[in-house]
Amino acid sequence: MLGGPLRGDVAVLAPSARVAMVGAGQLARMTHQAAIDYGIDLHVLAGSPHDPAVTAGAAFTMGPADDADLLRQLAGDADVMTFDHELVPLEVLRAMASDGHVIRPSADALALGCDKFFARTAVSGIGALSTPVPAFTLVSGLSDIDSFAERHGWPVVLKARHGGYDGRGVVVVEDIGAAAGVLARGGGSQWVVEEYLDLAIEFAILLARSPSGFTVTYPPIGTVQVGGICRELILPVDLPEEMERHATAWARSIIEGFGATGIAAVEYFVTQDGRLLLNEFALRPHNSGHITMEACVTSQFHQHLRAVLDWPLGDTGLVRPAATVNLIADATTSEFSTRLPRALAIPDVHVHLYQKSVRPGRKVGHVTALADSADEALERARAAAERFLG
Ligand SMILES: Nc1ncnc2c1ncn2[C@@H]1O[C@H](COP(=O)(O)OP(=O)(O)OP(=O)(O)O)[C@@H](O)[C@H]1O
Ligand SMILES: [Mg+2]
Repeated sequence: MLGGPLRGDVAVLAPSARVAMVGAGQLARMTHQAAIDYGIDLHVLAGSPHDPAVTAGAAFTMGPADDADLLRQLAGDADVMTFDHELVPLEVLRAMASDGHVIRPSADALALGCDKFFARTAVSGIGALSTPVPAFTLVSGLSDIDSFAERHGWPVVLKARHGGYDGRGVVVVEDIGAAAGVLARGGGSQWVVEEYLDLAIEFAILLARSPSGFTVTYPPIGTVQVGGICRELILPVDLPEEMERHATAWARSIIEGFGATGIAAVEYFVTQDGRLLLNEFALRPHNSGHITMEACVTSQFHQHLRAVLDWPLGDTGLVRPAATVNLIADATTSEFSTRLPRALAIPDVHVHLYQKSVRPGRKVGHVTALADSADEALERARAAAERFLG
């Protein structure tokens, strides 16, 4: 007979591991899908019973992600605690780790994804081949923006130091009047001012590192942002070989240097004049990694679980060229259900809906298409997305 608790006359296998995840958004939802494959009990900390991981059936506790008692309880009941977002109290996590809770990635590594100013300053000069970051400075008043723009020219980019995502907290400002408006509306946020770059390509390097020190890297994933929000992904992306090698090696040296564990993403800019610059970090599954669910041997969600549990890491190789289009809600998105079959009529299209409440501009799902070339995959994925949204 198999081990584990008895239910009636049926022996039930004990879970292979217990993982707690802070946050219950679409990343936790897709992590839950991977957890099901491995017989892992995933327990999420949710802000609402309508959160995407909760509606997908993950066990959940309701409460705020900065509640120290809840975090301790959650971690205490699990083999490892990990994250679907970065809005977490690092000091609490540090204290928990010193009390013996297993938290991956560590608060020191998470800081790279939580604080844009820290990330910019902490990485300058790391690694044998360090990568430049855009010119930047911390803003303590309007005059800092004015003098920065005198040196670097208008427009400039204002970025909220903490808490921004999907382009919320990133504003391109054309002049000092617009900058004053952003600071006035900013509700006390701290800002970083950055040079405005004429971008040719954006891409992300996704990697996973386990506590035993093994690291794997995925092929670079091309990303397209519109209005700061990620719209499209492409794999493979056409990059000069030397740039790809450098970006991958550098991402690896940062992740190893910070002792990060789990999946991480490093976002890069390539400017029209061919410069490679670092954008930002995510120390968790990342939107760019959604394409790995079908395009790579091991999806980022399975990989994240394997990495935080110190299990063997999976093959990151490409299975087939692919493209992903995010489904961004508009005023008609409530009609999705009737549109789904139309999108599914396109061959080799994979649909992921997050069951999120609809708000125009919100990411509510994504479609990934596979094909013989990335361009053909992009055509298919766009066609499928249009059948949803059109
Ligand atoms: N200095 C810059 N010059 C030009 N465009 C920029 C600059 N910084 C950011 N952007 C544009 O805004 C997008 C969002 O910026 P960033 O990645 O910093 O914000 P975010 O909201 O934290 O993103 P995410 O959703 O990835 O967390 C970038 O992908 C890029 O398209
Ligand atoms: Mg980004």
